[in-house]
Amino acid sequence: MKSKIAIAGLGNVGKGLLKMWGQLERWAADKDIDMLLVAAIDSSGAVINKNGIKAKSLLDHKTTYKNLSGFAGFRNINMKGAIDIATPDILIDLTPTNIETGEPGFQEVVRALENGINVVVSSKNHLRSVSALREIENAAKKHGALFLDGPSVMGGIPVFEIMNGMNIKISSVRAILNGSSNYILGLLEEKQFDGALSEAMRMGYAEANYEYDIKGHDSALKAVGLCYRLFGRKISVGQVRLKGISEGHIGIDGIKSEYIRKLKKNRKSVKLICSIERKGDRITASVAPTILDSNDQFAKIEGVNNAIEIKGKANGSEFSIFLSGPGAGGDATASRVAGNLKMALECLRRCGHG
Ligand SMILES: NC(=O)c1ccc[n+]([C@@H]2O[C@H](COP(=O)([O-])OP(=O)(O)OC[C@H]3O[C@@H](n4cnc5c(N)ncnc54)[C@H](OP(=O)(O)O)[C@@H]3O)[C@@H](O)[C@H]2O)c1
Repeated sequence: MKSKIAIAGLGNVGKGLLKMWGQLERWAADKDIDMLLVAAIDSSGAVINKNGIKAKSLLDHKTTYKNLSGFAGFRNINMKGAIDIATPDILIDLTPTNIETGEPGFQEVVRALENGINVVVSSKNHLRSVSALREIENAAKKHGALFLDGPSVMGGIPVFEIMNGMNIKISSVRAILNGSSNYILGLLEEKQFDGALSEAMRMGYAEANYEYDIKGHDSALKAVGLCYRLFGRKISVGQVRLKGISEGHIGIDGIKSEYIRKLKKNRKSVKLICSIERKGDRITASVAPTILDSNDQFAKIEGVNNAIEIKGKANGSEFSIFLSGPGAGGDATASRVAGNLKMALECLRRCGHG
């Protein structure tokens, strides 16, 4: 089977994916899948080659020159133009997330699905509203295309994929979903907030718009993803209750070093916790700084790691699972993108596509 793939976005995640492309090609070859990278798109334009682009050369070029101009097959066109010319079977959208507009990726993802193109995303644009989720769902259903969004929530922890392998009626979820706020909280014992934030930015952990992280908006988007994939419910990001440490603050904003040190003396710490609960037919979701005892399993989650505890029932028996690990990072998230791409390729192969 031949499978043409387009990648939009060659930043941290996109470059991580290009680094493991050779490994993916060998996996595919073993399954008689001829995986062809036919388009790679960034903000400077696109490289298109229907016979396949060499991932290693492309990565070297992008790393050296920061853009795609000058690489064989380069065209000064946008995502839409590139997809129309390359006609991929699978589009991988790794472009930035914009909670307000959903662009640059959202409309192109919908258009791709409407054209029967299967899509894997790490972007979170579809999680911003019920209508965005509906648009994606309808386009995918109507045109028989796959939409895989595992990498958009908890980057390197395959929570959707694991829970897809179970049949559990989930009653509650608690999770640390934003690595940069967890990192900042960890530094507050030693540094004031601004110093901790600057370090998180210097390390490349905080989003360019760091308010997404520290004010809990990024966690809220991921809470929408958890509601959708684990509880089968569509909610808007605005329905996730954002709380703060005191009046006028949300997320970890406004938390002071003195406060953290005082908690530590009492063997306590604070973490930005997302809680989702099912009560009857109702699902409620919130993101709030939460005081924890030092022996709580969430209190032990350090640095940019994420964690999730899922509780529910299997045939009436109590079920509980706790997962922790790299919730973000180019390589960890790229690895999840690669895993979702493998699932898409397997699925297409079984359906006798191509
Ligand atoms: N990094 C993580 O750990 C992580 C984890 C989970 C989910 N995510 C999500 O995954 C996505 C990618 O994250 P990232 O860290 O790789 O972001 P990034 O480093 O900022 O990379 C974004 C890429 O998108 C490209 N781009 C920007 N505007 C574009 C446009 N109009 N058309 C085509 N390409 C465009 C950029 O082009 P240039 O290279 O030319 O600037 C860049 O290559 C984001 O939506 C993020 O929220 C990231």
